[in-house]
Amino acid sequence: MGDLWKEEQTPWDRGTHNPALEDTLVQKSDILGSAVSSTEGKGKQRKKALVPGCGRGVDCFLLASFGYDAYGLEYSTTALEACQKEAEKYGDSVKPRDPDVGSGKVVFLQGDLFKDEWLKNAGLEEGCFDLIYDYTFFCALNPSLRPGWALRHTQLLAPSPRGHLICLEFPTMKDPALGGPPFASIPTAYVEHLSHPGEDIPYDDKGNIEAGTREKVNEKGLTRVAHWHPERTHEPGKDADGNVMDYVSIWRHQ
Ligand SMILES: C[S@@+](CC[C@H](N)C(=O)[O-])C[C@H]1O[C@@H](n2cnc3c(N)ncnc32)[C@H](O)[C@@H]1O
Repeated sequence: MGDLWKEEQTPWDRGTHNPALEDTLVQKSDILGSAVSSTEGKGKQRKKALVPGCGRGVDCFLLASFGYDAYGLEYSTTALEACQKEAEKYGDSVKPRDPDVGSGKVVFLQGDLFKDEWLKNAGLEEGCFDLIYDYTFFCALNPSLRPGWALRHTQLLAPSPRGHLICLEFPTMKDPALGGPPFASIPTAYVEHLSHPGEDIPYDDKGNIEAGTREKVNEKGLTRVAHWHPERTHEPGKDADGNVMDYVSIWRHQ
């Protein structure tokens, strides 16, 4: 994937945030709460948002405009150079959506999501992220990495009811036999992995996930609190008639 950045082969990169995330932040504020919280003795604090595999970082600037301190994590140093170029467009700070909430900072980190170095180097710890956003990261990973992907998210996400994982599910209509990336990512795959983090979930030889044979959620699993087709998304998430095929799901610890 790092090589694809170097070769300028980045077909997933639309140059702007997905409008489905913007709409989710506006329409699901009843679930997500405010981007700032006040704790007795500590005053007003900004919540932390993480974008694993953030690409050129466009989602981080959107999250910061909603008031989150946004952390974009990238393995690729070439992608991080694109993030720095993107940051130059915003100057010292991102324009806030709501002046009363203000805007958060944007921090780009180099590292591997599955390792701890980037967390330690940034002075962060597991369980510190109030919001994690996944778009075209789950589908970029080989399905054999999905148990680890799910487990890592449970480790990084803040406890319930504060922490929320938002998955913009794509591609939902691809034949899994075609392989990837992007690998077919149907809603059932998110359910099976996130409700059984770290567990090997069988796939058949055509790439179809075996669903519904395990208990609903194991003790480490996340629960899905919302699931819907967004009204707007990037073009690859639509069918030939323009219907949105992507889903958005929101998850939290039990
Ligand atoms: C398909 S791209 C999506 C980028 C971005 N989310 C977007 O929508 O434009 C996946 C990104 O994840 C990064 N990546 C892959 N594995 C990673 C890992 N283990 N840790 C951090 N970043 C990773 C790649 O460098 C790549 O930029």
